[in-house]
Amino acid sequence: MPSGGISASLTAPLLSWYDAGHRDLPWRAEPTPYRVWVSEIMLQQTRVEAVRGYFSRWMKALPTVHALAEAPEDVYLKLWEGLGYYSRVRNLHRAAVELCERFGGELPADYDALLKLPGIGEYTAGAVASIAFGLPVPAVDGNVLRVAARVTDDRTPITDPKYKKAVRGQLAAVMPGDRPGDLNQALMELGATVCVPNGAPKCSECPLTHLCASFHHGTTGLVPVRSPKKARRIERRTVLLVRCGSLVALNKRPADGLLGGLWELPSLEGHLPPGKTRQLLESRGWQIQKLLSLRPAKHIFTHVEWHMNGYYIELGDAPEGLTLVTPSALRVDYALPSAFRAFLTIIEDEV
Ligand code: ADE
Repeated sequence: MPSGGISASLTAPLLSWYDAGHRDLPWRAEPTPYRVWVSEIMLQQTRVEAVRGYFSRWMKALPTVHALAEAPEDVYLKLWEGLGYYSRVRNLHRAAVELCERFGGELPADYDALLKLPGIGEYTAGAVASIAFGLPVPAVDGNVLRVAARVTDDRTPITDPKYKKAVRGQLAAVMPGDRPGDLNQALMELGATVCVPNGAPKCSECPLTHLCASFHHGTTGLVPVRSPKKARRIERRTVLLVRCGSLVALNKRPADGLLGGLWELPSLEGHLPPGKTRQLLESRGWQIQKLLSLRPAKHIFTHVEWHMNGYYIELGDAPEGLTLVTPSALRVDYALPSAFRAFLTIIEDEV
């Protein structure tokens, strides 16, 4: 790691660039601790554009820490439906309960106390502390790491936790006492819109080229260095869109593991041909009146890919062990992860 690190001379041009025009994001208008916290949790792993609608719906339904703490699981899971990484919303709820029990429903204006709450790591604690409370602590996400690596032409893989720690230390030393939240957001914004992750960075629009080592060395294409990713495991499944009269069958996933405790369309392991599927289900006592193939679909999670084929099935009798719901209840009350959405297109007029 080169020794120089990030220089304090980056703060003035970066803040001027930020002031000259940044994205108009709903949580920036009124950066209360609760709004900043919820938005930052939503923004982890999810693009800003995708988060806008979710954020507005969430704030209408659950405008305070107390409202979240008291909300039933079905309500907050439904508000999160499609955002993925559902442990984030479960931790939001757990933390809200804890905030009501220990802090009167307020987020503490203290980095270390924030860090102790469920689902709040160094990044989120830094973002809430600096943006909502004006505390001079860094908030280092992937965008900030990329900007830092390029500005200093550092070839350490940005996925190396030691590198993140080093960047946090360097930024802590240059945090402006008066605008730490804006500096953090400006760094993130620069990474998201100018010093972009995919394709060439837009150096002609960057306020930091005069002090950017990668720009001067012509190495922006080589930095940041990423360590190779582990290949994802592939799981093959046969997904069943089961109808019994006008109702649709759902299954509740086990509490632990991927999509733990969420609703799903029932499925079988492996890619089963139609005859085999019918035989297996009839051996479970299902009275199949119709079985049609659906278009296969894929869904990519962080460590696993689901390769799914599917069948539309009409049954005479209610299947045992499954929950039957109306299409409108499926739309309004049940959180169904995006992985299954592709199989609903055949009944899309109803859901
Ligand atoms: N990405 C995550 N949080 C952000 C923020 N507050 N500003 C800009 N980009 C972000």
